[in-house]
Amino acid sequence: MSLMIRGATVVTHEESYSADVLCVDGRIQAIGQNLDVPAGCEILDGSGQYLMPGGIDPHTHMQLPFMGTVASDDFFTGTAAGLAGGTTSIIDFVIPNPQQSLLEAFHSWRGWAEKSASDYGFHVAITWWSEQVAEEMGELVAKHGVNSFKHFMAYKNAIMAADDTLVASFERCLQLGAVPTVHAENGELVYHLQQKLLAQGMTGPEAHPLSRPPQVEGEAASRAIRIAETLGTPVYLVHVSTREALDEITYARAKGQPVYGEVLPGHLLIDDSVYRHPDWSTAAGYVMSPPFRPREHQEALWRGLQSGNLHTTATDHCCFCADQKGAGRNDFSRIPNGTAGIEDRMAVLWDAGVNSGRLSMHEFVALTSTNTAKIFNLFPRKGAIRVGADADLVLWDPQGTRTISAKTHHQRVDFNIFEGRTVRGIPSHTISQGRLVWADGDLRAEAGAGRYLERPAYPSVFEVLSRRAEHQRPTPVER
Ligand code: URP
Ligand code: ZN
Ligand code: ZN
Repeated sequence: MSLMIRGATVVTHEESYSADVLCVDGRIQAIGQNLDVPAGCEILDGSGQYLMPGGIDPHTHMQLPFMGTVASDDFFTGTAAGLAGGTTSIIDFVIPNPQQSLLEAFHSWRGWAEKSASDYGFHVAITWWSEQVAEEMGELVAKHGVNSFKHFMAYKNAIMAADDTLVASFERCLQLGAVPTVHAENGELVYHLQQKLLAQGMTGPEAHPLSRPPQVEGEAASRAIRIAETLGTPVYLVHVSTREALDEITYARAKGQPVYGEVLPGHLLIDDSVYRHPDWSTAAGYVMSPPFRPREHQEALWRGLQSGNLHTTATDHCCFCADQKGAGRNDFSRIPNGTAGIEDRMAVLWDAGVNSGRLSMHEFVALTSTNTAKIFNLFPRKGAIRVGADADLVLWDPQGTRTISAKTHHQRVDFNIFEGRTVRGIPSHTISQGRLVWADGDLRAEAGAGRYLERPAYPSVFEVLSRRAEHQRPTPVER
């Protein structure tokens, strides 16, 4: 199976140049000028377009059982929508129930994900703590290609990890060469504010952002970062939405601490006025955590991307239809938290970031693909255009336009947070494992074509950290 992309401008996180790219049997086999075309090779004309590494979305929740329902996009429909948007790999989350075996949960998620149309990996959430959890973390790393563990600092009485769990799990991550990641919101404060607001008669979606104000995220970000600092681990903060959290990341990084931040296009572009929409279902459609924020936070997040203090873009793709959101009609705290976005992430970031001059094309590639591949040890198999890398590519038409709508998107959900936004710069073609899976509006996703991505332990950051730890090893006083 071979495919040649002719005459495009190759754009990576560090350079751009004109070349033909030959993909054979799922890998990039040659890059160069006027390459010979093997017999039977399909040719794709890339002139006037950019050829970039396929997007990697490091934060999705396909068919997640959550808040009494199940996210409506499954591993096939969700990854297919991702391919339509130029995203060729996801890292989803295994979220065991408290007291559930991590391995048991992992195998359930592996089963559900077999129908994925694109490649996929898993972070595993630590929702409780015991010796068994510590052992199973070891087995997940050694035998199952997991190199990151997620900690929800929110969702009290459900999956929240308290400080003792954070400390034990971060320490275990260090032993295993795995990256601890956090959803940074102070779950105690959120719970307290939810009860208080409900008692005041605030039952609608407009209470959602009030129950999760920016300082609630800032406090948790600070706590997670300080725990990581004390133990000598890296830490990755998912869906950073506030200036407060970004300030914590920036401060820690300025002191040399390896802290990574992820941002969602929605948090860059949508403000909290959506929760006051007069139509309940529309307001509820935007309910996700952390919530959309006042405008000043958006400008701060853009500056975080520009300054290199935020590293990845994700979607937190977690779809719920209007009837599912309706579970919280009389109590905002019961509205299933989550919004969609896997199909729109890249085009929205290009339009709002590259077209506006906020980001270079190279930064765009780093933020949508390469940085995630590096942080989670998939590089250069993913996130790169080089000989031997997976042939996961997106051919980008910088002049193409699309008006985003739930009526036309491929995501299995009846709401789109970017409804009506017209973006310029769209994926004309997506190539997954060397196969054309999206071609000028024709989605050719195949259930089960996606492969499970084993991610080796010890991403490169651990090399620095282990030398640092060696240097700082405590020495007893000889008496
Ligand atoms: O609202 C959200 N983000 N739902 C999915 C779970 C999470 O917190 O990531
Ligand atoms: Zn979260
Ligand atoms: Zn999430």
